[in-house]
Amino acid sequence: LANGAKAGKSRNIIEKMEETGKNCVVFYGSQTGTAEDYASRLAKEGASRFGLKTMVADLEDYEYENLDTFPEDKIVMFVLATYGEGEPTDNAVEFYEFIMSDDSSFSEGGSASDKPLGNLKYVTFGLGNNTYEHYNAMVRRVDGALTKLGATRIGAAGEGDDGAGTMEEDFLAWKEPMWASLMEAMQLEEREAVYEPVFEVAEKPEMDAEEDQVYLGEPNKNHLEGLQKGPFNAHNPFIAPIAESKELFSAVDRNCLHMEIDVSGSNLTYTTGDHIAVWPTNPGKEVDRFLAILGLTEKRHMVINIKGLDPTAKVPFPSPTTYDAAVRYQMEICAPVSRQFVSSLAQFAPNDTIKAEMAKMGGDKDYFHEKVSDLNLNLAQLLEIHSNGEPWTKVPFSILIEGLHKIQPRFYSISSSSMVQKDKISITAVVESIVKPGAPHVVKGVTTNYLLALKQKQHGVAEPDPHGLNYALTGPRNKYDGVHVPVHVRHSNFRLPSDPRNPIIMVGPGTGVAPFRAFVQERAHQARAGEEVGKTVLFFGCRKKVEDFLYENEWDTYKNDLGDKFELHVAFSRDGPQKVYVQHKLEENAEVIDKLLQQKAFFYVCGDAANMAREVNSLLIRIIAQQRGVPETKAEEIVKKMRASNQYQEDVWS
Ligand code: 2AM
Repeated sequence: LANGAKAGKSRNIIEKMEETGKNCVVFYGSQTGTAEDYASRLAKEGASRFGLKTMVADLEDYEYENLDTFPEDKIVMFVLATYGEGEPTDNAVEFYEFIMSDDSSFSEGGSASDKPLGNLKYVTFGLGNNTYEHYNAMVRRVDGALTKLGATRIGAAGEGDDGAGTMEEDFLAWKEPMWASLMEAMQLEEREAVYEPVFEVAEKPEMDAEEDQVYLGEPNKNHLEGLQKGPFNAHNPFIAPIAESKELFSAVDRNCLHMEIDVSGSNLTYTTGDHIAVWPTNPGKEVDRFLAILGLTEKRHMVINIKGLDPTAKVPFPSPTTYDAAVRYQMEICAPVSRQFVSSLAQFAPNDTIKAEMAKMGGDKDYFHEKVSDLNLNLAQLLEIHSNGEPWTKVPFSILIEGLHKIQPRFYSISSSSMVQKDKISITAVVESIVKPGAPHVVKGVTTNYLLALKQKQHGVAEPDPHGLNYALTGPRNKYDGVHVPVHVRHSNFRLPSDPRNPIIMVGPGTGVAPFRAFVQERAHQARAGEEVGKTVLFFGCRKKVEDFLYENEWDTYKNDLGDKFELHVAFSRDGPQKVYVQHKLEENAEVIDKLLQQKAFFYVCGDAANMAREVNSLLIRIIAQQRGVPETKAEEIVKKMRASNQYQEDVWS
């Protein structure tokens, strides 16, 4: 059985569509759930606006050998995210390899014909990030391969850009002309969209949440039964004790957490450079707001059973549950609300004035920006503003499950070395808080504030919640007794050179220093053990020496072990009259950097993708051009080659 295949389930997509009466399948290649979410939206819209019989499918649940016999009157849509350095998402690897191979063996002996997919009509939309080099590579390559195999694309190949923050607008702008082409290709007629729920949400007042087998935030059945059973992974977190936590900043208004997560006994393993995933809980304050504005406060602990009204609809989280648990543990209620969702909620507004306003925000991009996105509003905050004091009681709960993402774990670059502390994973995370001028609410990072509240609780602070966010800290049924947090590990390609003698240059301002603390910790350990260690140069940047100089004292102890092998350059951006950034420090050390690179030093960048990492990339090109006296185009090629050979590695986020 291939990855993800469930025994007994058909992997034949054509058969599945025939059986369930579908004429449109939307396949997704998704890593964090965004592509999956867009796939659901396409399917939904196809059904409600054009009467298509749609289904959503995980690429890893089906085989593709029979795509050459795909019926002409049906359509396949691909919503494909590009992951990392232009790679397919985990669930799309098999499909990708199949479709890209030069001799894909189709069921009808398709490789004999050079256009085996002559019957196949398809639509594509890609999710990418232009701050990465291989922008939307996955969808571009798949689209190219399908065309080459003779398939016909309907509409333009859509591309959304997360780097520019325009994903949603790119999607909206792409899909209208796509639908128009599809209407023509499939002889569809547009009808007035009527909302048809995907899920049945049945209230079960006779059930007792505490006694019956009801999910109160447990991620899966094992946890419901009180078992901590591995393997622990993206579907099954380990509920880990927090061994230690402390504040790293000495600023009054900003926090940065250092946490040690104890994974002993879990069989979770990590390698220096990996990421730890933290499964968050929504803040009680926002859970309360959400339930209140929908008129669900009274019923919050009522048991609900959720099931798909269509056999292909997957309920995104465990059921039976309660309104409270679904909203607190399963739904991404704090995220900015999307324009399309606002538009689809208009019909359920408490009165006509609000309905018209919602429709206007949903229909007019600029108006939406002014009234919603510029204010960073989440769904409940928006509904609250447009409520006239009345709750939105007409909103079917199904549309909320469909329209909001399933809550996702957040990833943090591990700041400890697996060689030094194999069972204790360190996290270094700045507690996020975004204030937008004129906005009615401060946006508080869901997970970092959750971690902060856990830290306060661990330290026995009477008011564990400095921002009144009111997190539930013990987890469902108080099973996460004491201070625990659900986690798993994600392996990365961000790696120290295998030979410790190899020099390294690290650039990590702010919490971008996290993996480099791990790198330096590891090398100090190696040096202590008598190994020969190469030059280890770190560029760090922060605002002020006295405020946010992360691990200031630790660097000295590493220096004791590493001696002159370790060099630390710090840029303080707000200590002097002029901003000093890591880039300035790199420039000052241009000669040494180039010399080390010529000795095959690995070059690492971690932190902000949008500005810092880009600027460092351009700067390195300039440094190489100047130092080696070559034109910038040549230097650019050198840097590209460094990236391709993993001599230049990034761990960046936006
Ligand atoms: P600033 O906030 O004072 O502008 C960690 O966040 C450090 O990175 C801070 O000192 C911050 O400075 C700095 N920083 C902000 N933008 C940057 C950029 N584009 N390149 C490098 N460092 C940057």
